[in-house]
Amino acid sequence: MEFVRNAWYVACWSRDLTTAPLAATLLGDRVVLFRDSAGRAAALEDRCPHRYLPLSMGRPVAAGLQCGYHGMTFDATGACVEIPGQTRIPPNARVRAYPTAESNGMVWLWMGAPERAATAPVYDQPEFHDPAWAVEYGTPLAYDCNYFPLAENLCDPVHVNYVHPSTLGSAVGGEAGVEAVREGDVVTTVRWTRDAPPIGFFAEFGLFEGNVDRWQYYIFHAPATSVIDFGSLPAAPGARDDARGEGFRVYALHFLTPVDEHRTIDFWLTLRNRLTDDDSIGPRMSALLMTAFAEDKAVLEAIEAETRRRPAAPTVRLAIDKGATLLRRVIEEKLAAE
Ligand code: FES
Ligand SMILES: [Fe+2]
Repeated sequence: MEFVRNAWYVACWSRDLTTAPLAATLLGDRVVLFRDSAGRAAALEDRCPHRYLPLSMGRPVAAGLQCGYHGMTFDATGACVEIPGQTRIPPNARVRAYPTAESNGMVWLWMGAPERAATAPVYDQPEFHDPAWAVEYGTPLAYDCNYFPLAENLCDPVHVNYVHPSTLGSAVGGEAGVEAVREGDVVTTVRWTRDAPPIGFFAEFGLFEGNVDRWQYYIFHAPATSVIDFGSLPAAPGARDDARGEGFRVYALHFLTPVDEHRTIDFWLTLRNRLTDDDSIGPRMSALLMTAFAEDKAVLEAIEAETRRRPAAPTVRLAIDKGATLLRRVIEEKLAAE
């Protein structure tokens, strides 16, 4: 699937960006990120216009980023502000600058038409600002696959029983179906597994004695943000959607950044509403999820390899694909609009 360019994409965690140049590839564009002397995140095309040395091989100076070959210096807007041995700055001595934003511990880049960035909000989750919740940033994970199969995976609550039996899924409830709805750019796929033993992920933290009702709300904000609202409650009859706040609730957020057609980085983190004072819980949760993500990686990379062998081969559509089918439609509409 092609990339939607008019969108914010996570380039790195805020904590990983200093004044030192950081090379990254987003949507096929090679960029260099750095903090300017005021501490603001900046992103430029990673290529000096003089002899094309990547600017990521340069060094930070007070005025901006200095090329490592002959010292041309560029500020955060991409303008050249210094050239050794001359005072005149040629008008074409500039590089493309990407709009940046920084919020909730993430640095975002706008990869499309720059003038559209100002009116496009960066994704925000209210729980980031709620002291009753704890956040844990994961280790970004590189997948050798196109972003779209990964996006489909994040609209697919059923695969957990088959791919993640020890952590996120269970044999019981493998037959539970899904509901999916689209509202604007958001596709929500919901699945409840009722009156079953807690899955490994929740059993690990010892909050449940008997059977639980477990929800999976897979909320995908096209083109590339996945919010997985999952949790468990002691089992009881009746509809439980409104009772989720009383349960052990976790949001796993995935910000997918396509590197190129065949590679994607998943910037993921968790928010939780229980055991928030215990600093050991976040890393333990992350370790459990990393076990699961390694399983997803194996599946998705094998699918990518097979897809590349026979790109046009037909696939079979199932009822559990509802969410993924809706998401494909949203993204196709966005691509057509671009
Ligand atoms: S290549 Fe950058 S200044 Fe010469
Ligand atoms: Fe998975």
